[in-house]
Amino acid sequence: MSKLVTIHGGSGFVGRYITRRMAAEGWRVRVAVRRPNEALHVKPYGTPGQVEPVFCNIRDDASVRAVTRGADAVINCVGTFDRGGRNNYHAVQDEGATRVARIAAEQGVARFVHLSAIGADADSPSGYARTKAAGEAGILANMPEAVILRPSIVFGREDQFFNRFARMARFSPVLPVVGAETRFQPVFVDDVAKAAVMGALGTARPGIYELGGREIETFRGLMRLMLRTIRRRRLIANIPFGIAMVMAYGMELVQTVTFGFVPPQITRDQVRSLRVDNVVADGQRGFDDLGIEPTAMEAVLPEYLWRFRSSGQYEAIHESARNLKG
Ligand SMILES: NC(=O)c1ccc[n+]([C@@H]2O[C@H](COP(=O)([O-])OP(=O)(O)OC[C@H]3O[C@@H](n4cnc5c(N)ncnc54)[C@H](OP(=O)(O)O)[C@@H]3O)[C@@H](O)[C@H]2O)c1
Repeated sequence: MSKLVTIHGGSGFVGRYITRRMAAEGWRVRVAVRRPNEALHVKPYGTPGQVEPVFCNIRDDASVRAVTRGADAVINCVGTFDRGGRNNYHAVQDEGATRVARIAAEQGVARFVHLSAIGADADSPSGYARTKAAGEAGILANMPEAVILRPSIVFGREDQFFNRFARMARFSPVLPVVGAETRFQPVFVDDVAKAAVMGALGTARPGIYELGGREIETFRGLMRLMLRTIRRRRLIANIPFGIAMVMAYGMELVQTVTFGFVPPQITRDQVRSLRVDNVVADGQRGFDDLGIEPTAMEAVLPEYLWRFRSSGQYEAIHESARNLKG
């Protein structure tokens, strides 16, 4: 009988790459999510029946218990940027993560991998970062041999970062950013997946790993790289932190009065996070210790951002035609 892994959030952006890799390793994969009917895209990652989306809400003991039964490894990829609502930071990233680890320990699961984030810090002014730290503490209290991965911002075909700004650049002459000089170390989604798989297979030593890509770049630098990739010229406008806080407050108010129908473009919590660099800290374990060579952004971005060029996939032909005319 092949081994079984339960992947909480295995249908999400990062989770699906981990699901694909665990299936390729020959494991049976249980993808535990709230809406299994919207997670059917993971089924072709394995042979028929090898990858199964199942219902689970990590806010509920009974459903976590049901999906943990018989698992040899558990990987938790559930996170949120929602500060309110039932699926909020505290419920998901602190209580939820701790619950998943507690039940894995109760059921004698051998290996536990958790996705946290760079910046996880119990003293952070950001609720996202504080609940990530609380979740890590809850996990280590229950599963001391866990592998915890803290990525910087993650990029890849389905990312919410480059895709979002590239989409904006199609229509808007200006790209508004908060924290233009804040530094990031973007990491390729499949490199994060490789690290998670090593945790589940037991080929990574237990502990915390900070995962950053090859390049460290400011937010402004990342926008320039994205604009070069989609071959558009746009003005990058830095919104000062004070003004961004006021704007975020306004957007949160709109969200409240519309009962959540109009989600904010940015929250005050995100503005607070954007004040701090998001790069691997000195002395932290990372890709080097896992023997993984991080993928460069320029090797991957054109593969999915081409659709934001003015002529889409025909841009190269247009360019060469222009050169011929000249
Ligand atoms: N993306 C990044 O740039 C980045 C950077 C640093 C750290 N991380 C961390 O990496 C992890 C994965 O991020 P991601 O971008 O892949 O997230 P994502 O795309 O939003 O995926 C979240 C997944 O969790 C599931 N989920 C949400 N709430 C749940 C609940 N209460 N119970 C069970 N499943 C639930 C979702 O499916 P349903 O909605 O069907 O439940 C989905 O499969 C998160 O912990 C995130 O904080 C991400």
